[in-house]
Amino acid sequence: MSEPESRSEAAAIAAAVRRVVEREVAGGRDELLVHAVAARARAGNVAPAGSAEPTPPARPGAPAALARREASGVREALADAAGGVGSGTGPAAASPAPFNLFGEPEPPAASAPAAVGEPSAARVPLAPVDPAARATIERDALPVLERIAATVRACTQCGLCETRTQAVPGVGSARSGIVFVGEAPGAEEDRRGEPFVGRAGELLTRIIQAMDDAGLIPGVPLSRETVYICNVLKCRPPDNRNPLPLEIETCSPYLREQLAILQPRIICCLGKFAAELLVGVKGTIAGMRGKVYRYQGAKLIVTYHPAACLRNPGYKRPVWEDMQMLAREYQN
Ligand code: URA
Repeated sequence: MSEPESRSEAAAIAAAVRRVVEREVAGGRDELLVHAVAARARAGNVAPAGSAEPTPPARPGAPAALARREASGVREALADAAGGVGSGTGPAAASPAPFNLFGEPEPPAASAPAAVGEPSAARVPLAPVDPAARATIERDALPVLERIAATVRACTQCGLCETRTQAVPGVGSARSGIVFVGEAPGAEEDRRGEPFVGRAGELLTRIIQAMDDAGLIPGVPLSRETVYICNVLKCRPPDNRNPLPLEIETCSPYLREQLAILQPRIICCLGKFAAELLVGVKGTIAGMRGKVYRYQGAKLIVTYHPAACLRNPGYKRPVWEDMQMLAREYQN
């Protein structure tokens, strides 16, 4: 760690200890947690917050059969799935949604990793896709998301509050049950108070639009309004440096509270910081993508951050494949 980073982390530790005590006393966290736990209890989803576990992805073209076998957790389903996603076989691979990321020249095909995974042990039931159920979740979540956002905007738990212009809680809704989680606000997000509105954000918006245009999830409109978009850190790290471990530890309860109240059907981790936090293990995106994890009542997948796609357009094809996997898993 560089000297400025050490100083910043030391200052963050001191500020965090002081502010956690102040905040706990003020009772803000109690209220948020009560709401989150109540929402999960209403949904019959009372397992404690934790890390995601990998499960086999659904095989294109055989969702019902795989879902049945997945439910019983038999080994043959694992082997089946391991060859399914990204292997270039099966009906979905024969007629994939067109690669149109996103009105730009098509980069050369990269081979996607084979999907592997271990069956998870205890399962929280998956959050619903039914539009009426989602509408209820959306309605109930709204005031709680607003309270979380207000707390985030007033947050002084780490040193980032001293350098931010404004905090960036999140945008969108629980309607579709799809949540995209990025890393931290950049300069434009810090200025506007909204996540993913800079260059990387424009690409994410185009990805979501492309999913909608391709009808990847029939009957579920996809836009910045129907998905939820947020970050691991709610405040911009100076000079867009990487989030520090203590900042992630201090800020991530807000994300977990948002996820608890949103009851997503599927979470898409954009980049390493979201993936490592929510999957609960360290790894590369190349190693983590192509698998389906579980986080509470949600499936969880990992893909490249849009900023990485801007730096390396070769990532766009795997991202599009991941969005197709997201759509399949959402529907299974
Ligand atoms: N990168 C992120 O991870 N989040 C944003 O909001 C913008 C860029």
